[in-house]
Amino acid sequence: MLNRRSFSSKLISSAFLPFLKIPDGGFIKEISDYISSSNPSAGDEDFWAQIRMAYTASQQIVNLNNGGVSPSPKVVQDAVEHYNKLANDGPSYYMWRIMDQGREPLRESLAKFAGVSSEEIAINRNATEAIDTVILGLPLQKGDQVVLSKYDYPNMLHAWRQREVRDGIELIYVDIDLPLADNELIIKKYIEKFTSRTKVVHLTHVVNWNGQILPVRKIANEAKKKGIKVLVDGAHSFALLDFKIPELNCDFYGTSLHKWLSAPIGSGMLWIKKEEIKNVFPLIPNGDPFSENVRKYENLGTRSFMIEQGIGTALNFQHTIGNKRKEDRIRYLKDYWTKEAVKIPRVKMYTPLDAQYSCAIANVGMEGMEAGVIESKLFEKFKVHTSPTKWEKINGARVTPHVYTSLRDLDRLLEGLLYVSKL
Ligand SMILES: Cc1ncc(COP(=O)(O)O)c(C=O)c1O
Repeated sequence: MLNRRSFSSKLISSAFLPFLKIPDGGFIKEISDYISSSNPSAGDEDFWAQIRMAYTASQQIVNLNNGGVSPSPKVVQDAVEHYNKLANDGPSYYMWRIMDQGREPLRESLAKFAGVSSEEIAINRNATEAIDTVILGLPLQKGDQVVLSKYDYPNMLHAWRQREVRDGIELIYVDIDLPLADNELIIKKYIEKFTSRTKVVHLTHVVNWNGQILPVRKIANEAKKKGIKVLVDGAHSFALLDFKIPELNCDFYGTSLHKWLSAPIGSGMLWIKKEEIKNVFPLIPNGDPFSENVRKYENLGTRSFMIEQGIGTALNFQHTIGNKRKEDRIRYLKDYWTKEAVKIPRVKMYTPLDAQYSCAIANVGMEGMEAGVIESKLFEKFKVHTSPTKWEKINGARVTPHVYTSLRDLDRLLEGLLYVSKL
C-alpha cells in the first residue's frame, strides 16, 4: 500500500525546475490521503467515483474503447495546456532551454517505474514508433528468421513484411488461433518454430484483438536458451499489469503511454537493453548509428515538448492510485460485466476470462451476428462505444473499461447486449 511518504518520494521532482511545476488543484494530495486512511479495494465505489471525477469523461457516450486510446485525467490535460501556453510565450526559449531540461528527470521517472536503467529508455510518440525502431533497426541478413504471430499488431506486421521484401528475411508464423486458454500449448507452438536460423521472436504481451495475455516470460526463457532476441509489444500491458520490464526476460520492449498510463495522446516509450543499443540503428538517423547512447532514438527534430512533459503528470497520477490497485480495479470491472454477459443467450466470449489470461479487454460476440452489427447497435440505441473487432477467428465487439468507468456504465452495456441478443 502507498503511504504518504513513499508516494511523495515517487513524484517527479520539479522543484528545481519552477517553470515545469503545474498546479493540480490539491487533487493528488486528496486522493493519496484517502488511500493512506482507507486502503480502498477494487470494489470501493466511493473511491473509484473520485477517480472518475478526475477525468472529464463524456456525459453523452459511454466510452468502452479505452483500448484504442485512453483519455487523460484533467490534471494531465491541464499540464499540457500549461506547457503549451508557456511554449507559445517564446517557443525556442521555453521549449529548447526550459522544457528540454525536464526530459532527463522524466526519463529517470519512467525508468524507475519500469524497473530499468534510465540509460535504456527512449521517449517517443507511440508504440508503433518504439517497436518499428527495433524492427527496422536490427541488423538482420537474408535468410534470418523471425518468429511472430498473425495476432500481432498490423503496424508491426507491416514493418516485418517490409524487411521481408527488402532484406530477404523469413517470417515464420506460429500456428495458434485465439482465444486459446492453454498457455502450455501456446509456449509449445512458439518453441516448435525456433530453428538455428531464428534471430528474433516478436511477442505481443496483451493481444489487442481480444485482450489475451500471452506467457511472454516463458517463451522468452526458451528463446534465450537458443540465443534468440526477444522483442515485446507492450502497448496493452505497460501501466496496466503490475510488473517490471526485466521480469519478461526480453531485449526490447515498446509501448504507448496514451493507453494505460493515461498520458497525453501521442506519447510512447522504448526500452532497449543497454548492450543492444549499439546494434540497433535509430529510425531517424542522428549522425552516429552505432552510438551506445539511448538518446540517439530521440532525434525527432521539433516535437511536442508539451505532450512529453505531460507524461510526468500522468506518472504522478498513476503512482497516486498505485499500479496493483489499478490492475485489480480494471480486472474487477471486466469480471463485473463478463460474468453477466455470458448468461445472455447467443453471447460468445472471444476472451478467456480467467485472471491469468485477461485483465481489461474482453471481446464479446453473438452467434450469427457480425462484430460491426453488435458495435453499431450498441451505439445507436445505447450510446455505448466499443470497437468492432473481426480478425482471424475473432468476431465481436471489443470492450475496454478504464479506471474512470463506473458500474452504471457497465450495466448500460449489459442492457445493450441483452437488446442486441434479441435482434
Ligand atoms: C498490441 C498493440 N501494439 C501496438 C499498437 C499501436 O499503438 P500506437 O497507436 O501507440 O502506435 C496498438 C494500438 O492499439 C496495439 O494494440
